[in-house]
Amino acid sequence: MAGKMMHAVQYDAYGGGAAGLKHVEVPVPSPKKNEVLLRLEAASINPVDWKIQKGVLRPLFLPRSFPHIPCTDVAGEVAEVGPQVKDFKVGDKVIAKLSTQYGGGLAEFAVASETLTAARPSQVSPAEAAGLPIAGLTARDALTQIAGVKLHETGQPKNILVTAASGGVGSYAVQLAKLGNNHVTATCGARNIDFVKGLGADEVLDYKTPEGAALRSPSGRKYDAVIHCTTGIPWSTFDPILTERGVVVDLTPNGSSFMTFALKKLTFSKKQLVPFFVTVKREGLEYLTQLVEDGKLKTIIDSKFPLSKAEDAWAKSIDGHATGKIIVEP
Ligand SMILES: NC(=O)c1ccc[n+]([C@@H]2O[C@H](COP(=O)([O-])OP(=O)(O)OC[C@H]3O[C@@H](n4cnc5c(N)ncnc54)[C@H](OP(=O)(O)O)[C@@H]3O)[C@@H](O)[C@H]2O)c1
Repeated sequence: MAGKMMHAVQYDAYGGGAAGLKHVEVPVPSPKKNEVLLRLEAASINPVDWKIQKGVLRPLFLPRSFPHIPCTDVAGEVAEVGPQVKDFKVGDKVIAKLSTQYGGGLAEFAVASETLTAARPSQVSPAEAAGLPIAGLTARDALTQIAGVKLHETGQPKNILVTAASGGVGSYAVQLAKLGNNHVTATCGARNIDFVKGLGADEVLDYKTPEGAALRSPSGRKYDAVIHCTTGIPWSTFDPILTERGVVVDLTPNGSSFMTFALKKLTFSKKQLVPFFVTVKREGLEYLTQLVEDGKLKTIIDSKFPLSKAEDAWAKSIDGHATGKIIVEP
């Protein structure tokens, strides 16, 4: 592909939102020795993508450089392999998590590390696969690694609260928690109550009602774990609704979350708030892809946009009212 040009969408400075995205023609990237070049079929947008553009992760030197082609969660076909790639060949259908530092997803082609690429069975569509990496693995790992929730029927069932269950992470978290027969209470807006029940939630609260704001389970249950996918809820709201050893997994931690985390540790509190940041690995991509193939997990697709309208997809994600995942298709 050396010398070939491709269409891409990039930004060249912090800020600017959807208006800061520019449509450009740039050279198709070349895979390094352990990378695959993918002809992209779908990419999904995660809130972290536009938070990086806002400069929220500037202290972590993200993005690594400008101009930056955003988005990391993709599905596509292998178009070229680096000389040391062993597990993939040209023509393979795959799912991949691109590098957070360099992104690359809003384009016709992107390079992915072999270790963050997994085979995609033909039953799993590119859009379904592209939704999985960050959102699906955040849901899985928050449940299993932090909250100790089992995702199979032989596990000890727990009472779980998922906030913002209609969003990308929440919609996976509800489905995954139910694989383990856990009792799931969920919050979402009124328009999505039936939808979230359809994902398997046992009880659903409208977050704009007093009961929803208090996060109280209608059946009076206390929660062993909260998969907290929204923001702005103080510890004083969580404290009375947790079991003795209940844990809140905070996916959007701020200064106050880190203070609460430290305070709970220092005071040997049995109730905990744990800030969590996902690390995507190939094993996780394979695990979730298998669940989708087996019909045990669905990617809920809010909307699909062609690459030529990527700025509309970007604006929709920033707006914060998606039901499931927003997909861009080159
Ligand atoms: N730490 C990590 O590793 C990690 C990984 C992934 C995501 N995250 C973070 O987790 C958060 C969720 O991500 P996401 O991809 O799921 O976002 P998302 O898909 O954009 O979430 C949108 C959904 O949230 C709902 N919502 C908004 N405020 C709500 C509230 N107060 N109560 C209940 N529902 C509410 C909206 O419903 P309405 O339209 O009805 O308002 C909408 O359906 C983001 O802050 C993201 O940055 C963190």
